[in-house]
Amino acid sequence: MSIKSILNNLLKTKSPDELIAAGKKTELKKTLNLFDLIVIGIGAVVGTGIFAIIGTAIQGGPEGPGAGPGIVLSMIIAALICVFTALCYSEIASMIPVAGSAYTYTYATMGEFAAWMVGWVLMLEYAIANITVASSWTGYLTQLLKGFADILPDWVVNFPLWLRYDYRSIYIMCEKYGWDIHDKVPFLLNHIPVALSLPNIFLTLAATLLLIVGVKESTRFAAVMVSVNLLIITSFVIVGAFYVKPENWTPFMPNGLEGVFMGAFIIFFAYIGFDAIATTAEESENPQKDLPAGIIGTLVICTILYVGVALVLTGIIPFGLIDTQAPIAHTMRFIGKDWYAGLISAGAVAGLASVFLVCQLVTTRILFAMSRDRFLPKSLRLVDRKTRTPQVLTWIAGIIVIFCSLFMDFNIAAELCNFGTFTSFIIICIAVLILRKTEPDRPRPFRVPFVPLVPVLGIVTSLGLMLYSMKFLKTSAVYFPLWLVMGVLIYASYSYKQKRLEEKKEKS
Ligand code: ALA
Repeated sequence: MSIKSILNNLLKTKSPDELIAAGKKTELKKTLNLFDLIVIGIGAVVGTGIFAIIGTAIQGGPEGPGAGPGIVLSMIIAALICVFTALCYSEIASMIPVAGSAYTYTYATMGEFAAWMVGWVLMLEYAIANITVASSWTGYLTQLLKGFADILPDWVVNFPLWLRYDYRSIYIMCEKYGWDIHDKVPFLLNHIPVALSLPNIFLTLAATLLLIVGVKESTRFAAVMVSVNLLIITSFVIVGAFYVKPENWTPFMPNGLEGVFMGAFIIFFAYIGFDAIATTAEESENPQKDLPAGIIGTLVICTILYVGVALVLTGIIPFGLIDTQAPIAHTMRFIGKDWYAGLISAGAVAGLASVFLVCQLVTTRILFAMSRDRFLPKSLRLVDRKTRTPQVLTWIAGIIVIFCSLFMDFNIAAELCNFGTFTSFIIICIAVLILRKTEPDRPRPFRVPFVPLVPVLGIVTSLGLMLYSMKFLKTSAVYFPLWLVMGVLIYASYSYKQKRLEEKKEKS
């Protein structure tokens, strides 16, 4: 094969008509209305970011300064970046309402290779994010069980560390508290540590089974979880407001603008997920109208909520004392409301379960679109006749999370997820600019205002924050390019050939 024909293949785009036609033939069931879409949006968004990561964004981590009470500004900066991109998502999602979201849009604008890479990067956004979410879920579940220590048997409340956390987390705890790792973790053949997070495994299996039963059933479950979650966070803002002492807001930016910008990079994780709505386009009843409304509605609700939480959290407690594991529950304990801290843990367990469920749903839908485009084996895209869900992919997505959460660090996974999401945001903004040129007359039920200003602002702000964070983050800033290189290698050694092979078979 000549270099020219390889290059042609790499840059070959799929026309929006072709994508829409493939989407119309979908075997996935069209059951989601606007309410379901907002549930999916909030269900994917409100989770670990606001329940756990906000603590690190305020305090700073081992590799970067914290924002202090200036986290409110960080929240607004992160929200603004999301708004620019949300508008771009809305335009394309209403124009090409098919599964796969950013992956599919890239295929329509930048060609096969770029699409593969975006799909690969989206795995960071969703599958790797879920490692963070599962680990944080286990933390809150442990807190919740401790709250019932008087009525639950001791083996439920204090089950051994090696059955509760991954090896890395236990190792960090041992370093921190001066424990001997051999007292906490059994070693096979004296060398191989055995540490499984049973709650993580339980959560992943439960989500996988639910997703296999059906997407409507899954969103119904997520709706209940989302309501509990929203109720508890809103009540924290209202009740907490009475305990705010304005003097806690000074100094407002203890680490200056550096802290605020790093805070914006870290807390960006809390907003990730609104684009999940676009990935379920083929299962939406009225995608042209509901997708933009769902995306923008989710973002507005979450921003208002987050700014409220940030103001109250930093107003109740001096920022230096804010906890980095479970900051909201800890703040309530700080003002002597232990029972409320328990309630917040219950809300977090519900909220994190819904984020987990939606992120798993989205991972499978992106893999489904990639498999339908022949990048992955045919056997993966089988849709079960009865439930009409892609069962094999759902299991694969579950196994990836269980396997990776055995050894991946919580914070690094979150940072990687941010890098992946910023990259997909940049691509979406570029896609809007390209489609305005290549498809000027295609009907756009939703149009981004002030083009090219809004997409350009989306690109500049996402890229700016990503590059700025690299000044501080040394570990994830190295892992991210490695992830990209891995994607190129898999494409070159497998997916490129697999696609040609399948296409050749179909033609003959
Ligand atoms: N935004 C999601 C969360 O905070 C990923 O958990």
